[in-house]
Amino acid sequence: MSLEGKVILVTGGTSGIGEGCSRHYAEVGAKVVIASNQEEAGRKLEEALRAEGRDVRFVYTDITCEESVRNLVAQAVAAYGRIDGVHCNAGAWAPGKVTEFNDSAWDLIMGVNVKGVLWTAKHVIPVMERQGKGVLLVTTSVAAHIGFPQHVIYCASKAALEAIIRCLTTDHAGVVRVVGISPGTIDTPMLAATCAGWDKPKEELYAEVAQRIPVRRLGQPVDIARAGAFLLSDDADYINGAILTMDGGTMVLPPW
Ligand SMILES: NC(=O)c1ccc[n+]([C@@H]2O[C@H](COP(=O)([O-])OP(=O)(O)OC[C@H]3O[C@@H](n4cnc5c(N)ncnc54)[C@H](O)[C@@H]3O)[C@@H](O)[C@H]2O)c1
Repeated sequence: MSLEGKVILVTGGTSGIGEGCSRHYAEVGAKVVIASNQEEAGRKLEEALRAEGRDVRFVYTDITCEESVRNLVAQAVAAYGRIDGVHCNAGAWAPGKVTEFNDSAWDLIMGVNVKGVLWTAKHVIPVMERQGKGVLLVTTSVAAHIGFPQHVIYCASKAALEAIIRCLTTDHAGVVRVVGISPGTIDTPMLAATCAGWDKPKEELYAEVAQRIPVRRLGQPVDIARAGAFLLSDDADYINGAILTMDGGTMVLPPW
């Protein structure tokens, strides 16, 4: 899949799925603007990819803050003159039932997962409108469709993203294509963090989970990156308002 010459911005592009996407999009020819709030990891990734001859730049961004997102978009346009695609991937997670609900859980999870996508779309869509074309890809989650135990705010945030994908598809028709990827269980630092507090080591938990997934393995960031590259490319020009489930087949299993 080629993204040759395209300018692609990846939020949360320094860890897990986002890091895999930053690397892969650069490998298939894109100029990649890597955004996240992980300054050190961002500088290291930028250096490593440039050493491989890739055209990338890291921009420190707090996706929850409008000024920071405005600066990200301005820096991308100043560097490359256009933005062909944005992968809204930054995400935050914290466990909790509604009885433990508080403002900080709301601010963290809704702030990053939902407000972050809204700020990004707000500032990047005018650039795409000036160009006459652009693609927004959003990382949602199967959590939008499952009542994961003790994940009420996270699940709500991912369900909100599905609604946002549909609304942006309608509001910016003819100019911006809006698509989503809904991952299942992907081997990333966020997934590892969810294993804390269980009575088994991570490796044992992962092996058990893998046996329940129809393809018999956890997903890797590159699995998402390959599909993301296709959805961001011109080959996917007729895919719009759609969300691709990438869970190795888990969601089609019968409930027994
Ligand atoms: N790993 C999974 O199994 C899985 C499953 C479904 C969906 N997802 C989603 O995939 C996306 C990536 O998750 P991951 O598993 O790679 O997690 P991760 O923790 O490895 O990466 C999250 C990224 O988001 C960035 N981020 C967090 N808060 C930010 C902020 N305020 N400003 C800018 N960047 C911020 C982090 O710096 C990091 O780069 C998330 O949206 C997550 O909800 C993950």
